This record gives sequence, structure tokens and C-alpha cells, in this order.
Amino acid sequence: MRTPFLFVTRSCKAVHRLQQSSFLSPISALSSHQRIAVLRNTSTHFCKEDRSYYITTPIFYVNASPHLGHLYSAVIADCLHRYKLLQGFNSKFATGTDEHGLKIQQAAEAAGKDPLTFCTDVSERFKHLFNSCNISYTDYIRTTEQAHCQAVKHFWSVLCNKGLIYKGSYEGWYSTQDESFLTASQVGHAWDSSGKEIKVSLESGHKVEWMKEENYMFRLSAFRSQLLDWLGGNPGAIQPERFYQAVLQWLQEDLPDLSVSRQRSRLQWGIPVPGDAEQTIYVWLDALVNYLTVAGYPDKHSQWWNVAHHIVGKDILKFHAIYWPAFLLGAGLPLPQTIYVHSHWTVGGKKMSKSLGNVVDPLERSQIFTTDGMRYFLLRQGVPDSDSDYTDNKVIKLLNAELADSLGGLLNRCTAPAINPAQVYPSFCPQSLPSQQGGRAVVEDYHMLDAVKNLPAVVEQHYESMHVYKALEAISACVRQTNGFVQRHAPWKLDRRDSKDQHWLDTIIHVSLECLRIYGTLLQPIVPEISNKLLSRLGVQPGERSWADVNFLPRYKGMDCPFEGRALGSDSGVLFSRLESQNIDKQKPKKTKKAEHLK
Ligand code: MSP
Repeated sequence: MRTPFLFVTRSCKAVHRLQQSSFLSPISALSSHQRIAVLRNTSTHFCKEDRSYYITTPIFYVNASPHLGHLYSAVIADCLHRYKLLQGFNSKFATGTDEHGLKIQQAAEAAGKDPLTFCTDVSERFKHLFNSCNISYTDYIRTTEQAHCQAVKHFWSVLCNKGLIYKGSYEGWYSTQDESFLTASQVGHAWDSSGKEIKVSLESGHKVEWMKEENYMFRLSAFRSQLLDWLGGNPGAIQPERFYQAVLQWLQEDLPDLSVSRQRSRLQWGIPVPGDAEQTIYVWLDALVNYLTVAGYPDKHSQWWNVAHHIVGKDILKFHAIYWPAFLLGAGLPLPQTIYVHSHWTVGGKKMSKSLGNVVDPLERSQIFTTDGMRYFLLRQGVPDSDSDYTDNKVIKLLNAELADSLGGLLNRCTAPAINPAQVYPSFCPQSLPSQQGGRAVVEDYHMLDAVKNLPAVVEQHYESMHVYKALEAISACVRQTNGFVQRHAPWKLDRRDSKDQHWLDTIIHVSLECLRIYGTLLQPIVPEISNKLLSRLGVQPGERSWADVNFLPRYKGMDCPFEGRALGSDSGVLFSRLESQNIDKQKPKKTKKAEHLK
């Protein structure tokens, strides 16, 4: 890995170069809002010495098999992790399973299994899904592991020694499904399937029960002003803005102390409270500490803990943006740098649920649409601010249009033997495409060049703020422009025997391959297999695919292009095969025995 100093120098120079560049001025092409963000980033993350980055997914409950929403959380985190690696960061990426608590205890009982065997089975299913979908985690944690139990007990003792935990009596509403305590204002009425009136959480719709028991309480109420100070001083701590505002709003409301244990007689499946075998630690406290366990807590967590970023779904924001920071403040530990919040996937406009029979199995879908296809769809259509609706048809339409036709078609057009008989990265001719107009290019071509030159800065901004769909929108628009460029100049109509035509033809292909190289490089965090195939076909070596290598069209600026004259890669297979909309049901892979028995 390059030394931080060297990278800092190069990166800052690179941005400086971007700002100086006369023919294409990426920064000036951005909106003022984007411009400020790029420049702010230049001085904070590019020039910062600490090149470590730590990203986490929520750990997943093992009461049921993984569904599409779980894969979505993991794909977002994987995308950010891969992006940081491309930028030269030393990135750690943690995911895993949340295995304690009443909900899991009850699910294991219902399955007639001992809890650990039950947890192991389902945890393996999550792992299998993530491995199949190229989720490149560096750490997979299970809360039933010894090291984690030690970390939780240590964390508890620190809070206790600071006088932040006291024995009390909790009386109020509890939702086992959400493993959450609720105030009266968070509870409403509903009717169950037999028509009986029940109480439910207004937020999740899950059933709540009245609970009264002796347990340990955490002095959450004492942390309101510190939490407000943290948010006031860090407007980017919770993103998008909408969720930051929601947390500020919650902090205006009642913030009672939090029950952080359950009586052992009711909950055996969990970590016992140190020094009190009659009580079990509340599953959310247990689960949140997983982020610290992976970082090396309690002995050597600083390297990672100081640069922690969490991805969370909107349903678990309160736990991450109020309880967790309060616990951390209490324990004297730094707070996470960013909590990125995403919204949910619905199916047919409804929440996915077993009873509605609309749960989308992500493994099954990724076998039909390919892993990269599913990753692309989730990140292109998933919008952090609001829910997105899933249908197979949307997947097929989007992937056919953007991956098969637009991107795949462009690659095919520029590498097909008919147009590129020598199978090389052809030469660029400066007279055919001079930086001042006068060659054979038209004004739209210059706009296209400008857009592609700007693209890395634009994509970077969107990746940084978890607006991955906007990054993909920008890439997709550029791919369309490059297709327009090829279409406009119809290289297949040029006469190879005429040297001027031949030079122009080579230049068109050179420019198009340069565009494809940029798209392939920037898409690596989203569709690693397709990007690899694309870059390999262009002859771009693994060591030439980082963010620092993007340098678009150097020949246009009078610099050397390392790819010019290079042989193309030999794999000329289709980049992404078109999907047929019929017979999706027939294509569904047969369920394995294991899958059946876990249901
Ligand atoms: N175990 C807790 C998290 C503890 S983290 C210390 C939990 N687990 S979960 O399995 O229920 O949810 C894990 C993630 O999946 C959450 O980010 C949640 O928002 C996400 N999703 C669950 N359903 C979803 C959709 N329908 N759509 C998108 N994501 C959703 O909560």
C-alpha cells in the first residue's frame, strides 16, 4: 500500500489539476452545493492523514431467513467499503448476526431446536447469501461468540462503575418483535386476525405487551443535552438530513431512562448481567456493542473506532442515533462519524411479511438476475430518503436498458472485430479531435468529454453521501452520451483505406474505450464482476483500476496514454445477457432441503 503521505500529495495534486484543467473544468461544472462539498472533502478526507475507515451493517436477527431488505443494507455497506479501498483507504467492513433476545428464544422454541443450533443454522444462511452476492466483509460477528460476550460484560461494567446503571422497576409497553420499550404515546390500537383488539407499536405495527418487572435502568435522561450538542456540532452525523431532523425532534420529546436488562426467568437466551445471575442484558445493548467488539474493544479499538460509520435502516434509527451514542458517551468513547440511514423496500406497495406472502428471497432473485444484476438494481433504484417498491419487471427493464443495451452495447460496438479488427486500444489522433474545435468533432462531443471528465468527482460526491442512485444516474447519463457519440459518427461507415478516416475511426474508438474505462473503474463498488469483465476486455490490469488511475483521456491533454496500442483482453463474451420477462416463475431455482426446513 502506498504511504499516506505519498497518497495525500498525489490526491491533492490531482484535485488541484482538476481545478486547473482548462478544457474540462470538473469543479466549475458542478452545482454550487456540489462544489462546496468537493472542496470541503478535498481538505478533510483527501488530505487527512488517517487512512483507516470502518463501515458496519446492522447485525441481522436470526429469527427468520434473510430477505431483500437485509441484502440491501449489506450491499450499501459493501459499496462504500469497496469505494474506500479504491481510494487507497485501509477499510474494515463488519457484518454478522444478532442472536440473543426473547424473539430468538421464542423462534428457536417454535422450531423445536436448541437456541445455539438454531442461530448457527440461520447465521450460516446469511453468510451464504452474503458470500454469494460478493459482500466482501472483513469481519463476520455473531453475538453468541465468546469475545463479544466479554466485550459486552466489560462495557456494562464501565457504565455501572460510572454510576449510569441502577436497579429499578420498569412498567410499560414492550414489543418482542422490535425488542423495544415504548411510551404510551408510541402505542395504538389494532385488530388481530381473529378480530380481537390488540395494542401495537405505532411505528412498526408490531404487537406490544404490558410488562412489569424489576430490572436495571440506564440513565438515558441525563444525556439529552450532550446528544443535542453532538448533533448541533455535527450536522452530517446522521444522513440524509431528513433523518437527522427526525432525531432532533425525538430529542425534544420525553426521554425516560431505559431498561437495560430483563429478568432471567423470562429471558434466558442472553448475556447475564455481571454480578447478578437473575438478570439478562437487554438485547439491544448487547447487539450495539458488536461494533466495538469487531473494532477490538476493550483493548485495542482506537484505530477503527475513531473512524466508524454505520449503515442502518430507518426502523432502527432510534437505537443507533439515541441509545447507542448515549451508551458511548457514558462509557467515555468517541461517537460514530456517520450514521447513514436508508429507507425500506416494499413489495406491491406493502411491507414484506410472511403473512402477506410477499417476502422476496434475495438469493433466489440473484440466481435469476445475477448477483451484479441484483446489486445494480438495489443501488440504482433504492433511494435513502423514501421507500422503493420491488417488482421483477422493474428489475428486468432496468438491467436490460442500462447494463445489457447501453453499457454492454457500447462495449460491443467498440470492440467487435468488424470495427476493431486489430483487437487493440487504438491510437488517438490530436488533429482529428483538437482541444480547440476544428477537427471532426462537434459541440456535443465536447460536452460529452466534459461530462466524463467531471464524472469521477460527481460520483465520489454521491458515494460519500450514500446517494449511490445519483452516482449511477450520472454514470448512466454519460454512457448514453458516449453511445450518442458513437452513433453520431458511425465509425462503421468510415473508409479504412483513407488515412484521415482511419485516424478518425481510431480516435472515436480510443475515446469510447477511455469512457468505458472510466465507467468500469467507477462501477467497481456496485458491480464488481461486470466491472472486472469490462476492464479486462479493455486490457486494464488489476493495478490500474484505482481511483487515482482514472485520469480520463490523457492524450487529449498531450500526455501519454498507457493503454494506447495495447492488445484487448481475450474474453469477448457478452457483458450482461438480456433478461427475458416471461417464465420468471419457471426459472425459480428449486428450494434446497435446508431452505425448506428453516422456514
Ligand atoms: N438486529 C437488529 C439490528 C441490530 S444492529 C446493532 C435488526 N435486525 S433486522 O434483521 O431486523 O434488520 C436488519 C436491517 O435490515 C435493518 O437495517 C433494517 O432496516 C433492514 N431491513 C429490514 N427490512 C427491510 C426492508 N423491507 N427494506 C430495507 N431494509 C430493511 O434490526
